Amino acid sequence: MDLAPVITVDGPSGVGKGMVTRWLSSQTGYHRLDSGALYRILALASVEQGIPLEEVDAVAALAKNLDIQFVGETEDDESILVIGNDWTRRVRTEETGALASRIAVAPAVRAALLQRQHDFRRWPGLIADGRDMGTVVFPDAVLKLFMDASPEERATRREKQLRNAGIAVNFAALCQEIRARDARDRGREVAPLKPADDAHLIDTTGLSPDEVIHCVKALLEASR
Ligand code: C5P
Repeated sequence: MDLAPVITVDGPSGVGKGMVTRWLSSQTGYHRLDSGALYRILALASVEQGIPLEEVDAVAALAKNLDIQFVGETEDDESILVIGNDWTRRVRTEETGALASRIAVAPAVRAALLQRQHDFRRWPGLIADGRDMGTVVFPDAVLKLFMDASPEERATRREKQLRNAGIAVNFAALCQEIRARDARDRGREVAPLKPADDAHLIDTTGLSPDEVIHCVKALLEASR
């Protein structure tokens, strides 16, 4: 049987990938993969189990067996269960994002998560968001989007998002963290953050959510 179609949405944090992914999923009825959440969960679980993040083989071994469940379909009722425990809020913090980007530089960790990401590919299709969805994980995607925006704009959006989720933030620290994480993600040797050759680039700086969706809608229609 043919493989289910995939649409990839890559880019740094705070560019609106989550919003676009949800919209695409609502239009197509496709499943969703938040690959960043897998890196975040794995980093947290490693810390929780006392595995130093530098011990990449132990982290990779944990990746293969960890019981992770994504429950719920809409933004409001989504939760993340790890070994049956609700980690939804813990997974989203900036600290967890920073831990995730530390393990994400390790080829062994990325290889261990590859199969888990492929397992999300089911009919009628998949919308996958992350950093290397179009370049490494699903190079045969039918539509590839690469979103970007200025670091300041992303920090402003992220602050709002975190505040809405009840997470306190310091704006200057957030900007600094975003720049540091970008440098790690773009500069790493394995699967660095970069657009696939056949990706459509969307710079969302100064665009409202409606304007971004307008642009994505046109690309989705053209791809059908
Ligand atoms: O997208 P999110 O902010 O949740 O990702 C957290 C971190 O996980 C990123 O900064 C990046 O280092 C890593 N990541 C990755 N490849 C992906 C998704 C996330 O390296 N496909």
